[in-house]
Amino acid sequence: MTNQDGFETLAIHAGQEPDTVTGAVVPPIYQVSTYKQDGVGGLRGGYEYSRSANPTRTALEQCLAALEGAPRALAFASGMAAEDCLLRTVCSPGDHVLVPDDAYGGTYRLFARVFSGWGLTHDVAPISHVAAVREQLAARKITVVWAETPTNPLLGIADIRALAEAAHEAGALLVVDNTFASPYLQQPLALGADVVVHSTTKYLGGHSDVVGGALVVADPELAERLAFTQNATGGVAGPFDSWLTLRGVKTLAARMDRHCRNAMRVAQMLAEHPAVSEVLYPGLPSHPGHKTAQEQMRAFGGMVSFRLLAGEEAAVRACGRTRLFTLGESLGGVESLIEHPARMTHASVTGSPLEVPGDLIRLSVGIEDCDDLLDDLRQALSDS
Ligand SMILES: Cc1ncc(COP(=O)(O)O)c(C=O)c1O
Repeated sequence: MTNQDGFETLAIHAGQEPDTVTGAVVPPIYQVSTYKQDGVGGLRGGYEYSRSANPTRTALEQCLAALEGAPRALAFASGMAAEDCLLRTVCSPGDHVLVPDDAYGGTYRLFARVFSGWGLTHDVAPISHVAAVREQLAARKITVVWAETPTNPLLGIADIRALAEAAHEAGALLVVDNTFASPYLQQPLALGADVVVHSTTKYLGGHSDVVGGALVVADPELAERLAFTQNATGGVAGPFDSWLTLRGVKTLAARMDRHCRNAMRVAQMLAEHPAVSEVLYPGLPSHPGHKTAQEQMRAFGGMVSFRLLAGEEAAVRACGRTRLFTLGESLGGVESLIEHPARMTHASVTGSPLEVPGDLIRLSVGIEDCDDLLDDLRQALSDS
């Protein structure tokens, strides 16, 4: 592969040359823990033990690195394992970090309930407002600025380039969780971010059949330090999970185009619906981050959140009434999902600064026939 190859070409070919022994067109699932050595220390191709490296995982890592335009990526057993490895590597007890005011509940829980016990302290930052983040950076020494964009579940947009400048001027790293956008829609490293985090469980995998995570980094020295922690702590992606993720990645661009198209129509329908008080979708011109999203994203993604005028109980009832939107956690698969963040994915942030409104519903808009999806939502909201 060359740097000139387009995204779709890289997704199908990067890290995935036909097998040199058999010619297999798809990287095999190397379901193996250890490798024969040609004499002590005589490794073939650098493989000695599959926690340290495994050829199927290597294929996935090379592909993810190519898609984010980076020299190196590391694949993990889950998004949370990736985040854990990153924080252990770039932070030390006593450090202070900025966490976003809207984020996946599990990410906030990692800071608030796990790393707080290790001595890592945090402040919550309004990452859509760079001037406010700058003030926080000026007030004390910050090691890491953590951002999601779009955010989960309120679909807030952070200006990656401006945040990177602010973080770097203060000597901090900018980490961007790119799970909602996927590298097809947005490449944070090109905009100045230092590390990209993925839950590959979502759009990269794309079929709701595998849990995984990744870190993608621009700086080879930092990548080396992360690889050391990954091997030392062991939260790696297994060979079959790596293979499933890689298979999903091949169709990422085609799926994302359809997710985005369907989500835009869903958002437009909801914006006109009498039961809906607010639609949160960066593709709508009324969204406060619309202009920034237009500048830094190829399209606006497949996630749509909205609030119901009739309140929390009506939102819970609507979540139980859909026919095609499946009530469930997670997102980014080909099938549409619906959920109530306050009682499901974000229950762990209740009572925290990241608490989400009870009248909020989050949709992961799949790639089904969009007319069917619109009909399904209309009937679910019919008496809300
Ligand atoms: C934005 C975001 N980041 C990280 C994660 C954690 O990833 P995983 O569930 O693969 O551990 C999630 C999970 O929902 C997420 O939505």
